[in-house]
Amino acid sequence: MNIPDIIIAVDGCSSTGKSTYAKLVASHLGFLYLDSGAMYRGVTLYAMENGLIGKDGKIDLPGLEKVIGSLDLHFRREGGATALWMGERCIEKEIRTMAVSSYVSPVSAIPYVRNFVDDKLHAFAAGGRVIMDGRDIGTTVFPDAQLKIFMTADDQVRARRRFDELREKGQNPSFEEVLANLKERDYIDSHRETSPLTQPADAFVLDNTDMTLHEELVWTLGLLQGRFGILC
Ligand code: DC
Repeated sequence: MNIPDIIIAVDGCSSTGKSTYAKLVASHLGFLYLDSGAMYRGVTLYAMENGLIGKDGKIDLPGLEKVIGSLDLHFRREGGATALWMGERCIEKEIRTMAVSSYVSPVSAIPYVRNFVDDKLHAFAAGGRVIMDGRDIGTTVFPDAQLKIFMTADDQVRARRRFDELREKGQNPSFEEVLANLKERDYIDSHRETSPLTQPADAFVLDNTDMTLHEELVWTLGLLQGRFGILC
């Protein structure tokens, strides 16, 4: 397969299946997959573990700003996949809990946190052949990405997927709790001042409410063929 060194930006609301989709496309194309949300989750986990988020959810903004520059968050390749590490500790599992999910949107709305994460993402994506998912990849992080996908799906379907995923991981939230968290995050993510979630004007919309993962891949390969003449 002769694929150019492009960057594919995948944006969309919570639990639209961005990471599952992006991982599959990455493995099919031999690209690196980067999960930008994991970075925001990593910063949130750090803040929680270091007493920078109170029980009331209040964030110690000056305290976090003081330490963020020295926070060692990085992706490591593990086989074909990437995992997030904090120093010498793999934190892939800890960053996916409901507790982290409930604080991550306000943390990711802080401008200096966004700058910190954006710098890391640019460094990791240097050289291209990357597919990255998030909320502002095609609008802010890589506005010149050669291919932009915007994913959507019905709310109830998204909450059901997230609920099943958490159950599979041994967590036990109620469906209503998951749906409420998802709606709250969508609201904060799309209404914050810095880099809100919006659909890039030049993005291709992928509504996967009634699609299988295989259909999503076929749709994407069609897009790559149409845009770049790539047959894969
Ligand atoms: O994709 P996710 O649910 O793991 O993302 C966690 C949070 O991070 C999400 O609520 C919004 C934020 N986020 C963001 O603001 N910008 C990104 N590019 C990716 C995630």
